[in-house]
Amino acid sequence: YHVVHLASEMAPVAKVGGLGDVVTGLGRSLQKKGHRVEVIIPKYKTLDLSSVKNFKKLNKQFYSYFEGAMHKNVVWTGVVEGLWVYFIDPQHPAELFERDSVYCQPDDFKRFTYFARASLEFMLQFGKRPNIIHCHDWPVAIVAPLYKSHYAGLGLNAKLAFTCHNFEPQGKESMEALESCGIQFKAPLHKDDFQDNIAADQINVLKSGLLHSDFVTTVSPTYAKEVLTPEKGEGLHTTLRSLTNKFHGVVNGIDDKVWNPATDPHLEYHYSSDNLKNKAVIKNNLRRRLGLSMEGDDANRPLFACVSRLVPQKGVHLLKAAIFHVLSLGGQFILQGTSQCPVIKKEFDELAIQFENHPHVRLVLRYEENLTHNIFGGADLFVIPSIFEPCGLTQMYAMRYGAIPVVRKTGGLADSVFDVDNDNVLEEKRNGFTFTEPTEEALAGALDRAYGYFKEQPQWWTDLKKKVMCIDLSWDAAPIDQYIKLYEHTVEEGHPPAS
Ligand code: ADP
Ligand code: GLC
Repeated sequence: YHVVHLASEMAPVAKVGGLGDVVTGLGRSLQKKGHRVEVIIPKYKTLDLSSVKNFKKLNKQFYSYFEGAMHKNVVWTGVVEGLWVYFIDPQHPAELFERDSVYCQPDDFKRFTYFARASLEFMLQFGKRPNIIHCHDWPVAIVAPLYKSHYAGLGLNAKLAFTCHNFEPQGKESMEALESCGIQFKAPLHKDDFQDNIAADQINVLKSGLLHSDFVTTVSPTYAKEVLTPEKGEGLHTTLRSLTNKFHGVVNGIDDKVWNPATDPHLEYHYSSDNLKNKAVIKNNLRRRLGLSMEGDDANRPLFACVSRLVPQKGVHLLKAAIFHVLSLGGQFILQGTSQCPVIKKEFDELAIQFENHPHVRLVLRYEENLTHNIFGGADLFVIPSIFEPCGLTQMYAMRYGAIPVVRKTGGLADSVFDVDNDNVLEEKRNGFTFTEPTEEALAGALDRAYGYFKEQPQWWTDLKKKVMCIDLSWDAAPIDQYIKLYEHTVEEGHPPAS
């Protein structure tokens, strides 16, 4: 098949969180299986072009509709991690993607709606005829309804796949904002398809994307079940229930080429489950790099870590509590986090100052890929106390690097981490520490158990480390086949298989 992915992120050129990792990892795995994969993303000012090969501007330009007029777009192309990527560069309004950050702009709705429409126009005018157009998250959710009402029959003959990585952001706006991209409510489109289920005066593009895609996935089976409930459905549970067999939960994989401690170019020393010696070297180098103590008995302190966006979803109050609890137990803690929310940012900035010269705790409040890889490499344990978590990739990266996860049992975390003390789960599957209630007490209980095992049963701990490193969490291992099955069935039969 020929599959074109449309998204607002792609690692490593334009990565904000896990979405970027998934677009690249899923695309590469699909390509490995013999399919033709292309990706379309905006040409952000912030693109990291260092890893792009053959980056160039195409001679041909194209026009796309917006706010009552046709606008010129330039297209750039290049190869990212082996995948062909097209970067859409609007000339007027030129400033849409000339910003210092990918999101959090007051006109995000307009920027991404423009991009969505321009991407369809690009495919049409540049002779792209994919079997599948695969859209990711609310920024490109409007592609499906736009396609169905304007583009089907014009030469494009694709099925529309949609993956929702998070049902919290939905692209809600006023009805006027929607009119700017020239949506016409003719069959099969209905005004109601855009009507937000909660606010009478708002439209919801995510909802319209769910309704008009040929199939919809989210990024873990447990989250797929959770969002069917009023408590976790973010107002969309009734819409999701109405999708029945069109809605599937497929757990993400990890990109084994990027996340592999035996070859990771970000690590100065490499290791594998057969030989863990260098993991200890990386741990000490990391502690030296961040100024944590290794003197005397301190050398034996377990190193807990977390790498996360600092947003309410990630359980920031629990994360804070985790730092203090680990410290009281006698462990060390490294938190690498970024926040665009001013209140949370201020809170963590203050905490970072409080621990500025502390021998056992360090907060690094910036995005830095090299440090991230060394944190996974150096950590003994990895803490993820999320309030909700559609999938979560960091628990999987942690396992691949031999850091044992301590997670709250929700969404994709519940699908990938199984408590070492849970007798209801097969021994061979048990790989970490979990807690259920989103409370400091429940978290502390899990941290206490983890600390106890680390201190009292070193051989058992080493065996656990080796075991989790050997779990094949890659895209190639299973998730990719589930996507291929969904594509195949939808292209051949016109609809996805029963979920
Ligand atoms: P989410 O997409 O909700 O943020 P995931 O666990 O799916 O959560 O993915 C997060 C991704 O972003 C991981 O690749 C993680 O390493 C990365 N990440 C998060 N914060 C930072 C940071 N401050 N610096 C570098 N990478 C980060
Ligand atoms: C979202 C979710 C995260 C998931 C990622 C990739 O950002 O918050 O849980 O792992 O997308 O699918």
